Amino acid sequence: MTAPAFVTSGSTALTSGLTHAAGTSVHRPRSARRPPCPRFTMSASRKFLVGGNWKCNLTKAAISDLVSAFNAASPLDPTAVEVVIAPPAIYLDSTRQILRDDFAISAQNVWVSAGGAYTGELDATMISDVGGDWTILGHSERRHHPVLKESDATIAEKAKYALETAGLNVMYCIGELLEERQSGNTVAVCERQLAALAATVSDWSKIVIAYEPVWAIGTGEVATPEQAEEVHFAVRKWLEKNVGKGVAEATRILYGGSVSPANCEELAKKGNIDGFLVGGASMQPSFLEIVDSYKTAMAATV
Ligand code: PGA
Repeated sequence: MTAPAFVTSGSTALTSGLTHAAGTSVHRPRSARRPPCPRFTMSASRKFLVGGNWKCNLTKAAISDLVSAFNAASPLDPTAVEVVIAPPAIYLDSTRQILRDDFAISAQNVWVSAGGAYTGELDATMISDVGGDWTILGHSERRHHPVLKESDATIAEKAKYALETAGLNVMYCIGELLEERQSGNTVAVCERQLAALAATVSDWSKIVIAYEPVWAIGTGEVATPEQAEEVHFAVRKWLEKNVGKGVAEATRILYGGSVSPANCEELAKKGNIDGFLVGGASMQPSFLEIVDSYKTAMAATV
């Protein structure tokens, strides 16, 4: 018997109101709860990934303390979970030198192509030169900040260079603004952002998608597990239709936006949520509790 292609999603919550405050999303009124989704069996083969995006925060001393806490924790099961830390660019090299080997290092952004006369930019090959394996691209803070306003096309061009020339893995962020959700355009926005990438790259083996609703980033307004799962399901369907079934089954889709130790487990239970991209909560030793939610995800697959 063939397994169902994807977790079947419940009725739509894509235009529904938001649930306030990290951790409270799991305490929805009973009438609002949906029956548990069956899990797509392939999810067991998508290794859980937890990214920590430190954004433009921390100092050398604060990083040293945080890394000491991370390094003191037990080894990870490398077959079950991957951890990727994205320090500010200036600390990328020094963080790589002190951080445990089983945590990978990521840039938060790179230039669109090879280096040269581009003041203030970073060639993606410089990331691998100092031991980094990843870059985040298309974060909403770069898509939407008025000073930056990175376009879909620019982000896709960056992804192509990072993947094909520098050999980095890419965490490609997508997600809707609050007004786009409220006007029922959540999936259309995500699909537009995905289409720009699909038009530019052909090998998806080093791409991870991070679905990060903009209204949930740094606000304490976490998407409910159902809201997140519904978009992840739509993203996977889009990949199946527009890129291929194999890519849809294998590509990890992370959720990001006010993930915390209090809400990660309920999110991790969802069949199409393959990990997290964590901002604020990744700068605390309790980030390790979020990493540990891979165990909840694994238990939910059996
Ligand atoms: P947050 O940020 O966890 O602080 O909401 C997530 C992100 O921007 O990647």
